[in-house]
Amino acid sequence: MNNFIDLRSDTVTKPSEAMRKAMFNAEVGDDVYKEDPTVNELEEYAAELLGKEAALFVSSGVMGNQVCLNVLTQPGDEVICEKDAHIFQYESGSPAALSGIQLSLVDGVKGVFTPEQVEPLIRPESAYYMARTKVIEVENTHNRAGGTINPIENIKALSQLAKKHKLYFHLDGARIWNASVETGIAPSEYAKHFDSVSCCLSKGLGAPVGSVIAGSKDFIKEAYRVRKGWGGGMRQAGFLAAAGLYALKNNITRLKDDHIKAKTIAEKLNSIPCIKVDMDCVQTNMVMFTLGKINVDDFLAKCKDNGLLLSTGKVGVIRAVTHLDVSMEEIYKAIKIIEKIVL
Ligand SMILES: Cc1ncc(COP(=O)(O)O)c(C=O)c1O
Repeated sequence: MNNFIDLRSDTVTKPSEAMRKAMFNAEVGDDVYKEDPTVNELEEYAAELLGKEAALFVSSGVMGNQVCLNVLTQPGDEVICEKDAHIFQYESGSPAALSGIQLSLVDGVKGVFTPEQVEPLIRPESAYYMARTKVIEVENTHNRAGGTINPIENIKALSQLAKKHKLYFHLDGARIWNASVETGIAPSEYAKHFDSVSCCLSKGLGAPVGSVIAGSKDFIKEAYRVRKGWGGGMRQAGFLAAAGLYALKNNITRLKDDHIKAKTIAEKLNSIPCIKVDMDCVQTNMVMFTLGKINVDDFLAKCKDNGLLLSTGKVGVIRAVTHLDVSMEEIYKAIKIIEKIVL
């Protein structure tokens, strides 16, 4: 998809020259023996950045979430999450398939739910005939809601609720870096409220592969075992970890540029009569919009014919995601292409 302006996702980026150099020069070893110095360095760096005792490099965001949930639960347990959570919508039914657990869904507003909504869903310990509530899960930023940020006060309150009911608290922080850059709240300040966190290196940060999960030493020891059992033990993975390390060290603060690009598209599109953008949801690097009577598939096909790639989220909703491989000039071009098609 080389000559396209590709706004389908922030996962479409390709490693920069500098990142490729870091990968090429990485010192490697057998990570299943814990002898890959670059993987070890990435895990130590990520643990520190997230303020956790330990971290583990995993192949993807899905693997990160699912390994965490598996460690935190037993078959027959239940995880409370938002109805549009990635773990419910886009992880191939893995909570049930891999861990024998079910999800209990909360109807959030812009991806955010409150302790008052969650408390009535927590099942009483005495109810042996029900699934056992074990985990509350939060996604920050929230993908399907359009990159929305969960306010830190809400996270604190949910964490207190989890403690009160002796539940674990898991963060799907695939894009925690975007939330952090936008709010000025450090990743560790978010992560400290959670027992486990999963954070992607291969989205806005621009690495080709990988996520990190973090938690206590005991948690990561168990996660290490689960990852291996699921075929996720990689050998000379330092080549990939080097890209992740480069991404964490160089590509976090620049995410702000992506947020500016998203706001630019959102404001322009929202001024076109037939297009509607929920401007309250444009908080980071995503823009969700609807098209009134225009057919979504036709619109996407015409965009493609004109060199612009977009995707859909919920039915009838079009998604544009900004990232480090799209320039401001291309953003203006994308707006022009859309105007030409709908006006
Ligand atoms: C919020 C969220 N969590 C997890 C994932 C899964 O990441 P991966 O595609 O690396 O498995 C994604 C991917 O888009 C995501 O948006």
